[in-house]
Amino acid sequence: MERRRQAVVLAAGDGKRMKSAQPKVLCRVLDRPMLGWVEEACRQAGIQDIIIVAGDRPELLAPAVTADCRFVQQRQRLGTGHAVLSALELLDPLAQVAVVCGDAPLLRPEDLQAAYELHLWEQNVVTLLSARLEDPTGYGRVLRRPDGAVEAIVEERDADETQRRVREVNAGAYWFSGAFLRDALPRLTPQNAQGEYYLTDMVALAVAEGLRAGAYRCPRPDAALGANSRRQLQQLNTIARRQVLDRHLENGVDIPLEDGVMIGPGVRIAPDTRILPGTILEGETSIGPGCTIGPNSYLKDTTVGEDSQVKASWLSQSRVGSHTSIGPFSQLRPGSAVGDHVKIGDFVELKNTTLGDHTSVAHLTYLGDSRVGQWCNFGCGVVVANYDGNHKYETVVGDRVFVGCNTNLVPPVTLGEGSYTAAGTTVDQDVPAGALAIGRVRQENKPGWADDHIAFKKDQQKP
Ligand code: UD1
Ligand code: CA
Repeated sequence: MERRRQAVVLAAGDGKRMKSAQPKVLCRVLDRPMLGWVEEACRQAGIQDIIIVAGDRPELLAPAVTADCRFVQQRQRLGTGHAVLSALELLDPLAQVAVVCGDAPLLRPEDLQAAYELHLWEQNVVTLLSARLEDPTGYGRVLRRPDGAVEAIVEERDADETQRRVREVNAGAYWFSGAFLRDALPRLTPQNAQGEYYLTDMVALAVAEGLRAGAYRCPRPDAALGANSRRQLQQLNTIARRQVLDRHLENGVDIPLEDGVMIGPGVRIAPDTRILPGTILEGETSIGPGCTIGPNSYLKDTTVGEDSQVKASWLSQSRVGSHTSIGPFSQLRPGSAVGDHVKIGDFVELKNTTLGDHTSVAHLTYLGDSRVGQWCNFGCGVVVANYDGNHKYETVVGDRVFVGCNTNLVPPVTLGEGSYTAAGTTVDQDVPAGALAIGRVRQENKPGWADDHIAFKKDQQKP
């Protein structure tokens, strides 16, 4: 039987040291708030029941995590021990409870899992995750007895000279037996330099009561790093970015020059795809094999097929097929889907628009709320006037339609299969299949007008 496990994520801090108007745990590492990283680590370690300790405004944290997390509110910030105490009602006495910090996003699920196994094996009431840092400044130090057994954690501000020299730090993540946590938490006292209820004191409390405390040392010290300041946040970004890039390089993605390349942890890229400088990939973006993305492109929550190209363009919540080329300098706004063998050239904007296979929209065009078929050709400067100031209307373009340069389409309007529009036409009525729509003022030539005009100007210039 799978033993019961819970996680409590400490996320009530308001981030004074970050100088942010938002809760600290919403500060981002790559494209994801720190809280989201920590939740993901708990989920990957197989923990289903996740309780988040929020500060004054839990609703601000909700979008950063999945819907089934439970929230408790810590109304006053009286320390990490007090934060866990706020969740006391929800702590299962029969469960093993992981307590993790919402501001330590590089926590690895492997470490959380390994610490859990050690915790059970040693039958500890508390097992902390530790790491050996070259520079332990700012972290709680792990104190051990001469035989190596864990004795206590001492915060830097409460530590003496000798204790400060210890390089083994508390990563801020722990496994507790639920029963011990419920029993001992109310006995914490704020007798320390900061006058706070320290969760870290639970270790000494367990030892004093003859109960077992242990430590799992994370093999990669980076995993323990937390972010209390913007500078530390930037360091975490650098480490996370490196880790994500290395994973893609190992998977066969080609990143010849990493300058300005930032890839979120949720992005998937197939082998033989090339990511060029200045490219940012975020959210649930997924890119097939053999593509070239960049230089200078931004893709968020966007899917790209095989052998496609995105050059200097901005794509969000869109789908791009295979053998398709986009840009330079184009934008796909949310809800757009373009098929295979499509060509989108420069200065093209699509919004909530679908394009069938083999369609070409090569220059200076805006298409909004449009359903376009296959093998269509849009000339330069086509505009869909989808908004009349009150409502948005749909444009439907059948297969093999030829839309002439500088055509305005005023929806609701349908262009039947195989129809044409003449350059400069404003189309505000449906065009039957196979027809030509032409709607523009007939040209008139005035013979000799230019010569007369020049003669008139010369005449005026005489003194
Ligand atoms: C804490 C640990 C320290 C450890 C370090 C690892 C304590 C006393 N110290 O220090 O040993 O090395 O983490 O990063 O636990 N929080 C609340 N409510 C509060 C106070 C804090 O929810 O009342 C949250 C914060 O939002 C943060 C986490 O708890 O996510 C840790 O708090 P923080 O103040 O950053 O602790 P550190 O000083 O970093
Ligand atoms: Ca911290």
